[in-house]
Amino acid sequence: MGAGMGEIHVKVDALRREIEKHNYFYHVLDAPNITDADYDRLMAELQEWENKYPELVTPDSPTQRVGGALREGFVTIRHTVPMLSLANAFGAEELREFDRRVRSALDDQPYDYVVELKIDGVAVSLVYRDDLLARGATRGDGEYGEDITANLKTIKSIPLRLRQPVSALEVRGEIYMSKESFLDLNRRREEGGEALFANPRNAAAGSVRQLNPAVTAGRNLSIFVYAAGAVELPSGEAPASHEEALKLLDRLGFRVNPHHQVCADIDEVISYCSLWAEKKAELPYSIDGLVIKVNSLAQQARLGATMKSPRWAVAYKFPTEEAETTVRDIMVSVGRTGVITPTAILEPVTVAGSTVSRASLHNEDIIREKDVGIGDRVVIHKAGDVIPEIVRVLKDKRTGDEKKFHMPRACPACGAEAVRQSGEAAYRCTGAACPARLLEGMIHFSSRGAMDIAGMGPAVVTQLVNSGLVKDIADIYLLTAEQLTSLERFAAKSAENLIRAIEDSKNQPLHRLIFALGVRHVGERAARILADYFEDIHLLMDAQMEELTAIPEVGPKIAESVTAFMRENQNRELIRRLIGCGLNVSAQDRPATGRQEHALAGKTLVLTGTLPTLKREEARELIESGGGKVTSAVSKSTDYLVAGENPGGKYDKAVKLGVAIIDEKELLQLVPGVAR
Ligand code: IVH
Repeated sequence: MGAGMGEIHVKVDALRREIEKHNYFYHVLDAPNITDADYDRLMAELQEWENKYPELVTPDSPTQRVGGALREGFVTIRHTVPMLSLANAFGAEELREFDRRVRSALDDQPYDYVVELKIDGVAVSLVYRDDLLARGATRGDGEYGEDITANLKTIKSIPLRLRQPVSALEVRGEIYMSKESFLDLNRRREEGGEALFANPRNAAAGSVRQLNPAVTAGRNLSIFVYAAGAVELPSGEAPASHEEALKLLDRLGFRVNPHHQVCADIDEVISYCSLWAEKKAELPYSIDGLVIKVNSLAQQARLGATMKSPRWAVAYKFPTEEAETTVRDIMVSVGRTGVITPTAILEPVTVAGSTVSRASLHNEDIIREKDVGIGDRVVIHKAGDVIPEIVRVLKDKRTGDEKKFHMPRACPACGAEAVRQSGEAAYRCTGAACPARLLEGMIHFSSRGAMDIAGMGPAVVTQLVNSGLVKDIADIYLLTAEQLTSLERFAAKSAENLIRAIEDSKNQPLHRLIFALGVRHVGERAARILADYFEDIHLLMDAQMEELTAIPEVGPKIAESVTAFMRENQNRELIRRLIGCGLNVSAQDRPATGRQEHALAGKTLVLTGTLPTLKREEARELIESGGGKVTSAVSKSTDYLVAGENPGGKYDKAVKLGVAIIDEKELLQLVPGVAR
């Protein structure tokens, strides 16, 4: 075993280094040198080795970036050197004052400055010991911060291992979210009816302080480092200036912002600041000013610090750019998921480098809170330099001709009822046939958990919708092979296959159809409960709140959503059309999902490894149709582990805990008579 393990060790180590090299190229140098697919393959290979030999997992393994366990809170740490903040300078005159203070404190010694971008994010401290990231913490109050190591490890531009040996090092930098990722995150949150982040800084701050590191991992954060504490290099060399320190950080594998400049005097500093005041809108991330630092580290030490901030540095803050304009109108639009968003149409005005003619008002509550009406004079700015936003209404400029705005009760795209559910800020269109929602609705309808129409993925659905061949979901059941072959890249064979798959989907069980309709809050499980209870779509169509909420596991949220959906004429019409196309809408002739459903009632099962015939999703469905529940981790409360080939760590855990282990055949016997 010894020699074998040795070889594996070397192999896994090489794999790890290779993956981290690609990470470095992609996330630090912004120069990817491998395709995503190849990268994923390397990661999968490493993960497989580590699953098999958990003792080989190292703290700097790229697999350690994915997240780890949920925590209850953060541990408070004390910074070895306090994390100070910076004094501000507004305008050229205050920069000259700062320079005069530096000059007199240095007794007219010659000195120069380094000017850097002031990244608008959250400050963190990274402590490395023996080349490895040992701890990452927030700034906190400057003296005490919070240990957020697990979250910071998910940020791929933070090296887990330094590229050169260093026995001890503390690095400081700014975690930020790019403008693009921020807009994207807010778009998703808006669609999900969640509260929005006001600017990229708040988004970054909220993301690094997540108790679940997996959430941080999904937030696309990045870092720029801007300071090194005491460095202990084996060569004994030490940087003499801030500029040299930045070069060293770059060599050690950190991401250093390329936009910085050594300036010989304050005039150069001022012109570099004005340059960025002009150009800041072009950056893919937001900055709220520049930081001016005395370059020589010896001179920094000589200048020292006050209680709050160093005397050798100052933050030049851009003036906040605001503009006054008039709200011409408030319009509403429907997004792909049916969320109805109000937008203020503004008298065009220039702010922060571009013309602004609209500003999202997000939802009803925000309109009420800001008290914005049509015709109001308002002050606008760009939040985080990105999003045009109404800051306040100039109420003393009101003439009395302004009009109050009310959210429409009907969808502007299809006229269906717009509903605001309790606990949500957004109004949503309830029309399943709404053209604004058609694409998303059809992709969901044909997806695997729903009607499972093979060959009808997002690309084909997009083609069908764009070509005008389908105008609502029921239209897919009227498609012919000839129509399909008239589309680009559609061969006769694939057209035939798709028509057959569409035809087959008519026989899907009722619960899949209910799920496929895309009723909000009705996921796969709720759809199954509704199908089991009503056994016929007609009965579900006429269900009332009281009846729905009386069903175990159906709460008011689901009930409210189902009744709103079924009230809407276009949805009833759609269901009628689907029935007319010959879809199965009843559960009665399928005793398998009814009578036998309790074979696994109350049982918890875990799946592991590759099963001989069932796919993961199918096995899960089978278990759920028998009344059982599938969870992802083995614990004492697991009733059965269903194990296939290459079962991995869950198998060992089940053995250890004495959990019953069964194979696919035994599973099929446990849930007999299920129509498959
Ligand atoms: S130096 C002791 N450099 O600005 C001085 N700070 O108000 C340490 N910041 O807390 C800060 N970009 O979060 C420095 N290039 C940069 C920076 C920067 C952003 C932030 C940092 C700090 C705050 C100071």
